[in-house]
Amino acid sequence: MAETTKKNGHIVMVPLMAQGHIIPLLALARKILQSTTIFTITIATTPLNIQHLRSALSSSPYQIRLSELPYNSTQHGLPPNTETTENLTPTQIIKLFRSTHALEAPLRSLISQIAEEEGHLPLCTISDSLLGWVNNVAKSLGIRNICLSSSGAYGTLAYFSIWANLPHRKTHSDEFWVPGFPPNHRFHRTQLHGFLREADGNDDWSQCFLPQIALSMKSDGWVCNTVEELEPLGLQLLRDYLQLPVWAVGPILPSSALEGSKHRTGKESGVTLEACMEWMDLKNENSVVYVSFGSQNTISASQMMALAEGLEKSGRSFIWVVRPPVGFDIDGEFKEEWLPKGFEERMRDSKKGLLVRKWAPQLEILSHKSTGVFLSHCGWNSVLESLSNGVPLIGWPLAAEQTYNVKMLVEEMGVAVELTRTVESTICGEEVKKVIEIVMEKEGKGKKMKEKAKEIASHMRKAITEKREEKGSSVRAMDDLVRTILSPNSL
Ligand SMILES: *[C@@H]1O[C@H](CO)[C@@H](O)[C@H](O)[C@H]1NC(C)=O
Repeated sequence: MAETTKKNGHIVMVPLMAQGHIIPLLALARKILQSTTIFTITIATTPLNIQHLRSALSSSPYQIRLSELPYNSTQHGLPPNTETTENLTPTQIIKLFRSTHALEAPLRSLISQIAEEEGHLPLCTISDSLLGWVNNVAKSLGIRNICLSSSGAYGTLAYFSIWANLPHRKTHSDEFWVPGFPPNHRFHRTQLHGFLREADGNDDWSQCFLPQIALSMKSDGWVCNTVEELEPLGLQLLRDYLQLPVWAVGPILPSSALEGSKHRTGKESGVTLEACMEWMDLKNENSVVYVSFGSQNTISASQMMALAEGLEKSGRSFIWVVRPPVGFDIDGEFKEEWLPKGFEERMRDSKKGLLVRKWAPQLEILSHKSTGVFLSHCGWNSVLESLSNGVPLIGWPLAAEQTYNVKMLVEEMGVAVELTRTVESTICGEEVKKVIEIVMEKEGKGKKMKEKAKEIASHMRKAITEKREEKGSSVRAMDDLVRTILSPNSL
């Protein structure tokens, strides 16, 4: 098919070197190629990331080209073979961010090479919103750059505006207003990540982020992995703030984007899909609490104890994806000593709880009728996977823009309750139990949250309807994005 279709132009995509950013960008590439075959897409990144992408794409029906940008981490004061943020210290993460500038010249050469081979420049670049310098490269070559934010619109705006304006530094109050949000909207100091709370514009994080954010805000448009009907307020605010087109083309569910590849996330699952589904099949509808903090985050040792106590006290069935607590290798082996004495055994014997090590088939669990609620760090991908299956959430945000996601889920959407924030908080089993009870209630608040989550799931399904007479909002947004990319460059 692809060979016989006339290609109308080339798109060069540049991901941030972090697993949580590469996968969504790949998912977007696939989504674009699903909607039209007129583009050639090249993903350009560092050698090891290309290797990972190659294996993820090995069984892909889409033709995505991969292009290696030379990079050697030791030349940037990083350990050998360091090409993603995983397992790095904060200082190393800053070094890695800075080192991305070394990709600027190779990217320029790649674009020139494509221009030479094809007789014209690529149509545009699509870059991660934290790689503002790609916008510079594109502009200097006379092509457009579009930013991808793999977060929702509300979370993206909060994250970028707080970094760009540091509003918490301008008040002594714990609550403050964030530019871009309505005047009565308040954020709280405890919703800021430690680095951000301390940032003053001159610290290493600010120096690293602020110029990139400023450049990305001058690109030609933004793509958000979200749905128009999911966060109308967030999208309106983001558009007003950026004064740019923002295309809501989601939900792009990265784990389903990797379907067909042998190990979907490259990480081995701690449980087989069959065993997991078998366990769930024995449970009642909406009765299971699913607990996971994603592959990049974990909670503190004392929080882990409290969570286990709370789950046990609640008497509810649960699946918990366990990872070593803060201070230990998150991908390391999980030790029983991190849980109350005899906990795993009791849960196994009573069939109340299934502990899964490392990674579970999340999308299958969330789409199973037995799942009642998702206790989550509320990373955006998890939020999308939960809501697209009509599953309400218990929020426990840990990093990045997660606290803002939870704020929206609670205040704007009414589909979540926040249990606690960050790894620094102290919680007890009783609080965990109480929150689970609220959300699992068959009446009152729990019932309302479930209804809202189901309503949102139906909006999300409609958004991706391709039927001509009732094209969904995300399909129309993708059409418009394609049209914009194809329209003559106005630069
Ligand atoms: C990276 O650079 C170091 C030091 O400059 C060198 O020893 C090493 O061989 C390089 N690695 C690769 C893969 O080129």
